[in-house]
Amino acid sequence: MGAVVAFCSQTGSAKRYANWLAEELGCQAVPLERIETAAADADLVVLCSWFHAASLKGAKRFRAYMAAHGEKHYAVVAVGATPMPCELWPASEHEKAFRRSFPAEAYLDLPWCYCQGGFRFDRLGAIDKVMMRIYFKMLEGEARRGSERSATALAQMREGYDGCERSYLDPLVTELRARSWA
Ligand SMILES: Cc1cc2nc3c(=O)[nH]c(=O)nc-3n(C[C@H](O)[C@H](O)[C@H](O)COP(=O)(O)O)c2cc1C
Repeated sequence: MGAVVAFCSQTGSAKRYANWLAEELGCQAVPLERIETAAADADLVVLCSWFHAASLKGAKRFRAYMAAHGEKHYAVVAVGATPMPCELWPASEHEKAFRRSFPAEAYLDLPWCYCQGGFRFDRLGAIDKVMMRIYFKMLEGEARRGSERSATALAQMREGYDGCERSYLDPLVTELRARSWA
């Protein structure tokens, strides 16, 4: 009985959300690599991970775990650099990104929420730094062509920021309690 939060995190945002959620659920937060042993007795397993080029890190491994343990309940916290749903970033965009890793045809009933993370270029691995430099160039082009959204994103990412807020987890916690899974 009980829950486990399994996380993937490079610069710490998803890990913070995992720890906050584990506090809410009264359980442990563990790296995804430890899911097999840590979740052996859990009946709710939550993946807390970050968007990397529009797919969620570790999703493949989590999907395989879900398929092998059909008797458990599951949920996902998806952390990304983009703001919480607003006029410039509608919820449909987060949904679209999430569905690349958990398509609606197979995972429609999987509870999940989006939480804004942060961005720290200096903490990235070497390959991600290269990827982000290319992404910055793309944003520069879009900003030059008049995209307010790209200009804002570029400025924030260059500066570095922490957009984590514990309350962003509230909708998921409420849903898990409503389902009596937590
Ligand atoms: C190479 C790379 C690709 C990324 N792609 C996306 C993305 O497609 N969508 C998004 O919202 N955030 C994206 N991000 C931002 C991260 O998801 C964000 O910084 C997150 O907070 C990182 O989580 P962590 O601190 O747990 O590592 C990307 C970051 C990197 C380094």
